[in-house]
Amino acid sequence: MSLFSSFKLGQLDLPNRIVMASMTRGRARNSGLVPTELHARYYSQRATAGLIVTEAVWVSPRAIGFTNVPGLFTSEQVAGWLRVTDAVHAAGGRIYAQLAHSGAVSHPDFFGGALPLAPSAINPRLQSFTPGGFKQTVTPRAMTLTDIRETIGEYAAAARNARIAGFDGVELHAATTYLLPEFLNSALNLRTDDYGGSAENRSRIVLDVLDALIREWGPGRIGIKVAPVFEMGGFGPTSETVATYDYLASRLDLLPLSYLQIVRAARDLSGTPVERLQDTVRYFRARYRGALIANLGFNQITASEIIESGLADLVSFGTPFIGNPDLVRRFRRNLPIASSERSTYYQGDAQGYIDYSPID
Ligand SMILES: Cc1cc2nc3c(=O)[nH]c(=O)nc-3n(C[C@H](O)[C@H](O)[C@H](O)COP(=O)(O)O)c2cc1C
Repeated sequence: MSLFSSFKLGQLDLPNRIVMASMTRGRARNSGLVPTELHARYYSQRATAGLIVTEAVWVSPRAIGFTNVPGLFTSEQVAGWLRVTDAVHAAGGRIYAQLAHSGAVSHPDFFGGALPLAPSAINPRLQSFTPGGFKQTVTPRAMTLTDIRETIGEYAAAARNARIAGFDGVELHAATTYLLPEFLNSALNLRTDDYGGSAENRSRIVLDVLDALIREWGPGRIGIKVAPVFEMGGFGPTSETVATYDYLASRLDLLPLSYLQIVRAARDLSGTPVERLQDTVRYFRARYRGALIANLGFNQITASEIIESGLADLVSFGTPFIGNPDLVRRFRRNLPIASSERSTYYQGDAQGYIDYSPID
């Protein structure tokens, strides 16, 4: 087993264990939030990855929370994505769409003044990148049971669209700060109905959405990304986090998913309520029997080590893929890894997006 050995991931045969992690790049600069020719170029340049996961893609208009991010809920968007998936497949690659809903990490500017939706009316005190620049989040509206039911339906519809658009599968974005991690977080989810108040209830919407996605597409086409120890501002692990993710992992283990992607700890967790999750990948390896993708801060050496140790089946890389479209080849030949320009990560046009060249 090495970074360069093949792997059967759900219904796909991957030529290597190197995954391109989902990265929001803010290049859908049109009113329809349609992916363009630039997106097709960007993703097809990176087609040597074992698997590409797209940027977070909105499942509905209500899911929007970041400017110039494409959706997967209109026929124009589906047509735009079809050009992207065609280009990636023509270049020999495989591509999943990451399905996302920003929940409270959004702003009324996206909704004609209406409030964003969230598990509870608690301001996460983060920022939303609106068409008018970064703005502080507001106190969102707590979702009704009808909102929850409709939202699950929106995820299912987006998965249907992803299939029509030629994707090889979808990844459910349950990492970092968006809607689903808000439900999983006992500081942001104070609900007293079936969707809050216990590990089981906090996990319910994630499992409901996964059931809907699997019903839509069948086994081996649905992955999920989680980040149990992620913290940003006031958003971070609580005393309920370990119990919540223990329960979630026990249920994910029973589903016909293609993979579980784990964002590991970025710092020393000693003395925090999530100390037991320090070796995050090992923790989940013991609780989940399916394919595991490890993420965060890997390089060629550490990625090779974790794969050779058997702790992870694949490793995903975010930042390194921005400046190195040919990352797989650079790893394989021990070529230098280029840095990338941060000011163009989340905004801009072709520059800093499709103009990083493969190394000779
Ligand atoms: C510019 C940028 C945008 C990102 N957008 C997303 C996103 O849309 N969805 C997501 O799950 N993670 C997103 N991430 C996180 C990455 O997928 C990944 O988890 C993180 O960068 C850690 O991996 P790395 O150390 O290899 O970069 C983003 C990261 C970067 C740098």
